Amino acid sequence: KRVGVLYGGLSSEREVSLRTGAAVSGALKDLGYDVVEIDVGKDLPARLIAEKVDVAWLALHGRFGEDGCIQGLLEAMFIPYTGSGVMASAVGMDKVYAKEIFVARGIPTPPYRAFDSAEAALAEADRLPFPFPVVVKPSREGSSVGVHICKTREEYTAAVQDASKHAGTLLVEQFIKGREVQGGVLDNEALGVIEVKAAREFYDYEAKYKAGSGTQYLFPAPLPPDLYARVNEVSLGAHKALGCSGGSRSDVIVTESGDVFLLEINTLPGMTASSLLPKIAAGRGIDFPALCERLLQGASL
Ligand code: DAL
Ligand code: MG
Repeated sequence: KRVGVLYGGLSSEREVSLRTGAAVSGALKDLGYDVVEIDVGKDLPARLIAEKVDVAWLALHGRFGEDGCIQGLLEAMFIPYTGSGVMASAVGMDKVYAKEIFVARGIPTPPYRAFDSAEAALAEADRLPFPFPVVVKPSREGSSVGVHICKTREEYTAAVQDASKHAGTLLVEQFIKGREVQGGVLDNEALGVIEVKAAREFYDYEAKYKAGSGTQYLFPAPLPPDLYARVNEVSLGAHKALGCSGGSRSDVIVTESGDVFLLEINTLPGMTASSLLPKIAAGRGIDFPALCERLLQGASL
């Protein structure tokens, strides 16, 4: 079987996807798979046919990759692919729609408001149903692109203007102070929880990808057992609430008083050898090539 590793693409997370693609394709080749790397752009259907791709390993992040578009194309071409299906991908990519489902399912997530435009968000600045600081996010980005923590009205105004340049609507959330942890899920099983200690204000784009940014990773997260179990439960709950498949990583805040808040789920989480889901899996005895292979074996239509 010929495996097409689809990577790159057109989103703001293209650079991250290049790393995921290289890591996954290297691992699958070392395992002896017949791999073709496809940088997603125009004429993808023609390339999939010309390269005789039997199964697609999706190493894409963000728009046109993580959001159900590519998944829909592959469905229509009868090419099985790794990870979540069209609907879970589309909902998971939009933080506002995903939160509406989490709220409906009783999964704790920070209080929020959603806005269709920068003007609407600015008009409500004094009427938000929660106090500052707040977090402003574009609803359909990843890797913290366009995300800002705002302590003042002035910061809020600048953040809204920046976030509105990115994909989707605007999400304004109450800032919840606490520890940043991530729960990994693989094939409907909670794998465990990692804690990230960023040397920056939060685990932002630089802390995620820049060498020497001083980010520390602790696996298993040194949480009390009941909280560790709770993060696993929330991560698995989020995965199931959206109907995800394969692997996912949920980003969670644990407060000092022991409350757990789901920020979001990532249906195509970063998959470089140093990314979080691979670190969690490795901590559970599933090394990077084994994780790539397991996801490949789970590919479906
Ligand atoms: N969006 C990035 C790739 C992640 O969640 O890991
Ligand atoms: Mg994300």
